[in-house]
Amino acid sequence: MSGAAIKAEGLVKRYVTWARRGFFRKEKQIVEALKGVSFDVVWGEVFGLLGPNGAGKTTTVKIISTLLLPDDGNAWVAGYSVLDNPVEVRDRIGVVLSVERGFFWKLTGRENLRYFAMLRGLRGPELERRIDEVLETVGLKQLKGADKLYEEYSLGMKARLALARAMLHDPPILILDEPTLGLDPPSAREMRELLVRMARREGKAVMVTTHNMFEAEMICDRVAIISEGRIAAIGTVLELKKLVAGEVPVVVKFSGMLGDSLSRVEERLKHRLEISKLHVSETDGGFTARILVEAGLEERVVARTIDILTGMGFSVLRVEVAEPSLEDVFIAVTRRGGQGASKDD
Ligand SMILES: Nc1ncnc2c1ncn2[C@@H]1O[C@H](COP(=O)(O)OP(=O)(O)O)[C@@H](O)[C@H]1O
Ligand SMILES: [Mg+2]
Repeated sequence: MSGAAIKAEGLVKRYVTWARRGFFRKEKQIVEALKGVSFDVVWGEVFGLLGPNGAGKTTTVKIISTLLLPDDGNAWVAGYSVLDNPVEVRDRIGVVLSVERGFFWKLTGRENLRYFAMLRGLRGPELERRIDEVLETVGLKQLKGADKLYEEYSLGMKARLALARAMLHDPPILILDEPTLGLDPPSAREMRELLVRMARREGKAVMVTTHNMFEAEMICDRVAIISEGRIAAIGTVLELKKLVAGEVPVVVKFSGMLGDSLSRVEERLKHRLEISKLHVSETDGGFTARILVEAGLEERVVARTIDILTGMGFSVLRVEVAEPSLEDVFIAVTRRGGQGASKDD
């Protein structure tokens, strides 16, 4: 097949919501979820849309799956426009939006698939053959899950069944929204392997969204970083890492009472260090600051950071100069410019 499997061009989406203002008044609010999103997914690749909560991943997936209309822009799936040829688009995609949605709890996995296969127009021996095939592909047969009741399924098995349902009509393109969210580590790993296999062995185009940088690095041939409704960077993991060449991540773990919000701590660190490429997050048992530093300046920054954090009443637990990861690329491309000064500092 020639051309891009998926092509998104200038996608814009606004949501209108009503926020309560006092007892009787409501105020119209417009959330601009997508502000002109463009990218291509090619055949045979695993393409990742990587971004934090609220970045616009699900909105993008819904538009490409014809579940939501864009306010501007267009997307093409195997050459068909989501605006003009939604039926042709739907024939060519298998979509998993949420692992658990829409299955019958009192039916077995196989019975569930039979129902959805009939909706797809499959009948008779062809239907049974196809169901056997997809059950085998996703590993449910091997797990003896095909004839178990859905309500007895583990989340990992539900995820497999959701993928099986998406593949009933043998679509050349798979689109999955956070496919490993909530899965236990072994199930998540198997799901990732399964998706990579779909791209490598069967030449399908596989598009996944994730907020997990490590997952993106592990399985994606190319990654688009999405932040606040915009694509901040796009490329292979190697290409993206080149964006932070010459910079070194300094990782500082610290603990203590959080007098302020975490973002206030981040702002103060940025201001005092005069570094904008910096991110503070909550990690188990404390906090972690990840600071992108020009190579050669690590030692100075480490000493300053320890000073500043200690001065704020925190205990520094561990300092490490790390290897650049996608996380650093993310920090770099979403926090360019903006010195982030805090007012009382
Ligand atoms: N149905 C909706 N109504 C109003 N706002 C929405 C709706 N769906 C999503 N949003 C908002 O749009 C933005 C993008 O959301 P979403 O696409 O779900 O992001 P992600 O999947 O990356 O977490 C967020 O600010 C979110 O709050
Ligand atoms: Mg989402």
